Amino acid sequence: MSADPIYLDYAATTPMDLRVAERMRTVQSTAWFNPASNHVAGRTSAAVVEHAARQLGSLLNADGSSFLWTSGATESNNLAITGSARQREHRGKHLITMRTEHKAVVDVFRALEKLGFDVTWLAPDADGLLPITRLEEALRSDTQLVSVMHVNNETGAIQDIAAIGEICQQRDVVFHVDGAQAAGKIPVDLATLPVDLYSLTAHKFYGPKGVGALIGRSGVPLAPIMFGGGQQRRIRPGTLPVDLIAGLGEAAALAQAHLSDDLDCLVALKSDLLLALQSVDGLYVNGPEDGGYPGILNVGVDGIDGESLLLALEPLCVATGSACNSQSQEPSYVLRALGRSDQQAQSAIRFSLGRMTTSTEINKAISLYCKAVDNLRNLAPEAVA
Ligand SMILES: Cc1ncc(COP(=O)(O)O)c(C=O)c1O
Repeated sequence: MSADPIYLDYAATTPMDLRVAERMRTVQSTAWFNPASNHVAGRTSAAVVEHAARQLGSLLNADGSSFLWTSGATESNNLAITGSARQREHRGKHLITMRTEHKAVVDVFRALEKLGFDVTWLAPDADGLLPITRLEEALRSDTQLVSVMHVNNETGAIQDIAAIGEICQQRDVVFHVDGAQAAGKIPVDLATLPVDLYSLTAHKFYGPKGVGALIGRSGVPLAPIMFGGGQQRRIRPGTLPVDLIAGLGEAAALAQAHLSDDLDCLVALKSDLLLALQSVDGLYVNGPEDGGYPGILNVGVDGIDGESLLLALEPLCVATGSACNSQSQEPSYVLRALGRSDQQAQSAIRFSLGRMTTSTEINKAISLYCKAVDNLRNLAPEAVA
């Protein structure tokens, strides 16, 4: 019988909290109506959606009336970037983003390049952070949008969103943030952060898959990228999935209640993991070594191939590069942008921890990793890159 999996891939997705599932079941049986229907049943569902907006608004300190419900962060990013770029095309066709963004941002900009937009791809420093001077130098009179993610999904680097947003505000440039790995995981205060558009997705913080939101500062107009009914101010039409939205709201309320305890536990677990792994010869951290989101630790080791390592690590569930990209054998473009070689990027393993992670699991992960590196170095020369 194979050993039980040890799940350390919470950046890929998290299990749904049972209280979230319970809330969704209640809504499925009592408020399954169309919230756009103008009758008493429809109003019951509309009230459920409003309640979820209040729960999410409370987590992020944001006004629920400016939310757009979407199918997840991929859609939120598409709508924010394409919707804003198209709406403000008259302002100019220059857009700025980073080379270390998630595919759900990178590929939107690539599509816009094909439509004639001019995109500047900023490189991070060796820790994955954006040097503010690079942004200042890249801004032009025809720049209309900047998009920089909050927490990096591969390295855990946390960008200085306040400083970036302030510069954008001074230049009247729309600032979009992909917050998929930040919302519900680190404190986010959208009332004080100078952010115009913020994307998030419920399944990264113990909510259901297939639902997310785009939080917009009022006064930031977006051109729709889908067309249909009159829902959500016609910017994102389609019947709202009330149960999924209720689940997102409940997950947001639970995240708010657990945030500080979760972070304390993650800091302690990551520090144990890092301390133990540092005994491995040739090991280095990809991303900020003494900082960053405590739920993510990305390490590489010289002379070892990542795919062989991943196999040798079973039953440990971790990622090489981005999980969304794991079908591809290409070295992670995020780690390449940090200055890692192809071989170094390919040897990278991302451990991502979550609310259910225990110190027993961390100890097993440490022992599996150390043994796997030793075995590959001693026994399988073909696995050594
Ligand atoms: C930073 C980041 N942005 C966007 C996404 C896409 O989110 P979703 O799968 O909910 O569309 C992910 C998911 O891995 C992510 O980590």
